This record gives sequence, structure tokens and C-alpha cells, in this order.
Amino acid sequence: MGGVMTQAQAQNYPTKTITMVVPFAAGGPTDTVARLVAQSMGTKLKQTVLIENVGGAGGTIGAARVAKSAPDGYTLFLHHIGQSTAPGLYRKLSYNAIDSFEPIGLVTDVPMTIVARKDFPAKDMKEFLAYVKANKSKVTYANAGIGSASHLCGMLFMTAIGTDLTTVPYKGTGPAMNDLLGGQVDFMCDQTTNTTSQIKGGKIKAYAVTTKTRLASMPDLPTLNESGLPGFEVAVWHGLYAPKGTPKPIVDALADALQVALKDPTVKQRFADLGTEPVADSRARPEALRAHLKAEIDRWGPIITKAGAYAD
Ligand code: MLT
Repeated sequence: MGGVMTQAQAQNYPTKTITMVVPFAAGGPTDTVARLVAQSMGTKLKQTVLIENVGGAGGTIGAARVAKSAPDGYTLFLHHIGQSTAPGLYRKLSYNAIDSFEPIGLVTDVPMTIVARKDFPAKDMKEFLAYVKANKSKVTYANAGIGSASHLCGMLFMTAIGTDLTTVPYKGTGPAMNDLLGGQVDFMCDQTTNTTSQIKGGKIKAYAVTTKTRLASMPDLPTLNESGLPGFEVAVWHGLYAPKGTPKPIVDALADALQVALKDPTVKQRFADLGTEPVADSRARPEALRAHLKAEIDRWGPIITKAGAYAD
């Protein structure tokens, strides 16, 4: 924790570069969302918002870093649904997912896709499920560590098909995608912000999307509901935070800048191209993120306990 700011410092904020910590490696879906939002927030705040990638342990290393940072508005944290699953997965976290942070606002909900290396021997989800079950001892699936969205989707997938699979963890699904493209790993469940361009480029195979209805950006991709796994729905929500104790005028200035960024035509278009869209204004507010985070921690706790997916 850093020192307390003066009234004048809070009122003149920001007077220097702001760091936005992304708890996964560069080039992945979380990084993609963060860079788009940071660029636009920086314009509004008239200061550079610099991305710092702090990967590892499914996002909890980055979270711990921000929780210990000075509450002066110069360290922000962009994380997703993993902020709500970590308390159930890690029983020795050095921070509290709610009380160590000041929520600023929700950002976007991103669909996930079941994708495989280009030459994976299945032409649709039905064949994919049959092949994975018949070859469970050799099929490998990539994720970004316990607590990542790709881990959560994989956990739900393995529970749904009643089969454990060999997991290959990475510091983010950016690096994991490189191995999928190279055929070093068989499949993963990853966000459309990372998979859309590779799917459309024919570089990887896509079998299904994890939303209730098909995506406008990839209308030919069936939902898991249609493909033999009814009720399998995962959307990766993202939130922006500051460390606990960040002065309210600064939190409000950041929430205002976030709302402006989410209405930026460039951000909206890029999100649309990548299968997602900014949240409504009312959700890009501190109280909306706090309520959503609490509800999600309460929702995922029992599911994780039932799956026995503890990290420590
Ligand atoms: C994940 O949770 O899978 C992460 O979003 C991966 C990433 O952003 O690199």
C-alpha cells in the first residue's frame, strides 16, 4: 500500500502515465480488450495508459501485484471472470478479490469458442466429442492456468463430457494460440477476441461457440447448445479496478473515462469485429461491477467445490 494522496493531487489527477496491469501474457484476449480500452481512456484522460502484462497462476499473480500497489490512480487492473473464480480455486490468495480493490466498471462480455489445430480429425462437434472421449489419454488441451477463463471453460467441458484430459498451461492464450497454430497442442476453449481472426483465416478449426445464440460475427458457428452440450454457456465478463483506498474523485474520473472509451466508435467497431460489444453505460460504473463481482463469486464457489478444481 502506498501513501495517502493530498486533496490537490486527487483533484489534479492524472498528472503522469497510468499503468494498466493485464494478468496474462501479451497478445491474448485480455490484452486485446485492455489495449483497446487503455488507448481510448488515455485520450480522455490526456495521459498515456500503459499496459503491463503480469502473467501467471491464472491471473492471480497480476491481481496480487495490483492489490499491493499505491492507491493513487496510477495503477489499474483489467481482469475478467477469473477475478470471481480465484477465491474458490486458490485457498491461500494474498488478496481479497473484493476488498483489496476499488471497482471502476464492467467493460465487455466475450463469448468463447471450442477451437482445435487445423488438422484435428473431426469435422463437427459430434465427431469432436466422440474423438476426444475415445482418445482421452492422448488429447491435449491448452489453457492460461488455473483461474483463467480457458481453464474454467475447460473444467466445465470436461465435467460435461465426464472425461479428464491432459492440460497444457500457458501464461496466456496468446502463447497457447501459437502452439495451437503449430499443432503442438490439440484444442482449447478461448475467447473470440483471440480466435476470430484465426478461425476466419482458416488457421484453426472452430466447432462451437459458448453463447445461447449464434454470433453475428460468425453465424455459421453452431452453439454448444445445438451441438450436444445443452446448457453449456460461458461468457467472459471483464472489469476494471484500482487498488483499495484509491480516492473517490479518481475512481469517478476513471469510470467517466471508461464510459467514454466504451462509446468510442473505434472501440465499438473492433469489439464487434471480435464477436463482442461494450457493456451498457449503467454497467460501466463502480457499483455495477461490485455487485456483479460479488454475485459471480457466490455463483462459482459451489461449482468449483463440486468439480474439486482447487489450485492449492
Ligand atoms: C484466459 O483466461 O484464458 C485468458 O483470458 C487468456 C488470456 O487473456 O491470455
